[in-house]
Amino acid sequence: MAERLLILGGTAEAADLTEAASARFASRLQVTTSLAGRLPPPRDYPGALRIGGFGGTEGLVDYLRTARIGFVVDATHPFAATISGHAAAACAATGTPRLLLLRPPWTPRPEDRWHMVADFAAAADAVKAVAKRAFLAIGSGELAAFSDARDVHFLVRLMRPAAEPLPLARYDVVTGRPPFSLEAERALLERERIDTLVAKQSGGPTAAKLAAARATGARVIMVARPEKPAGPRVETVAAALAWLGARLAAGARD
Ligand SMILES: NC(=O)c1ccc[n+]([C@@H]2O[C@H](COP(=O)([O-])OP(=O)(O)OC[C@H]3O[C@@H](n4cnc5c(N)ncnc54)[C@H](OP(=O)(O)O)[C@@H]3O)[C@@H](O)[C@H]2O)c1
Repeated sequence: MAERLLILGGTAEAADLTEAASARFASRLQVTTSLAGRLPPPRDYPGALRIGGFGGTEGLVDYLRTARIGFVVDATHPFAATISGHAAAACAATGTPRLLLLRPPWTPRPEDRWHMVADFAAAADAVKAVAKRAFLAIGSGELAAFSDARDVHFLVRLMRPAAEPLPLARYDVVTGRPPFSLEAERALLERERIDTLVAKQSGGPTAAKLAAARATGARVIMVARPEKPAGPRVETVAAALAWLGARLAAGARD
């Protein structure tokens, strides 16, 4: 009988793993991908797709038991710390093997002007100290941290238009969903006379904004990642496939 794999998604790696695992392990693995559902899925997924929160750790425990999940791959975004904590706790409670697929962070080049900060409060302090026109490319969730930077003009990038005014004194909004080209990012930074880019240390392929900051001489305030739970972790889809292959082989021998 096929084993059941739950992939916690919301990243390009999760989508790539869903496709690759469905193709590689075909009849041996049934894949379900789970998305939080804040945005419509950016692409089609093979296998089953479930959308929306589980209802905390307890809800995820129930789900793992009811859906008879054999393995979990947590391929959520490096800044999605809550769901990863819930996944670790729920897998521990149910004895479900769990792998963290976490893309490597970006590394600065010698010509980059990065200022590493521990969190969004520290990023706001740094912005207040050095910026006149700052580009907030951090999504919508942490904007309130910058609300008392009243002398800074912000350019805020959101995936969709905001339903309510943002908690900032002076700002403009641009909307868009990655990937972005270097040419477009550079043109945006130049047109808006951006001196400071605030970014999350997400890693991954969408680094055009960092290349644009390098090209225009803008400084980058880089917010460090939150901690993800301990346990087995890999950085690539290929390594996650190898982990799944080993698990399936071990199960077949039992
Ligand atoms: N944070 C980012 O910068 C970022 C960027 C790109 C993509 N994403 C993706 O967007 C989703 C939400 O991110 P977040 O930072 O808001 O997460 P979060 O703070 O870690 O999670 C908040 C709640 O959202 C639900 N949730 C999150 N991911 C889920 C998933 N894959 N399937 C089902 N429920 C999920 C869970 O609700 P319950 O407690 O009810 O289960 C969780 O407690 C994540 O899946 C992440 O991969 C996040």
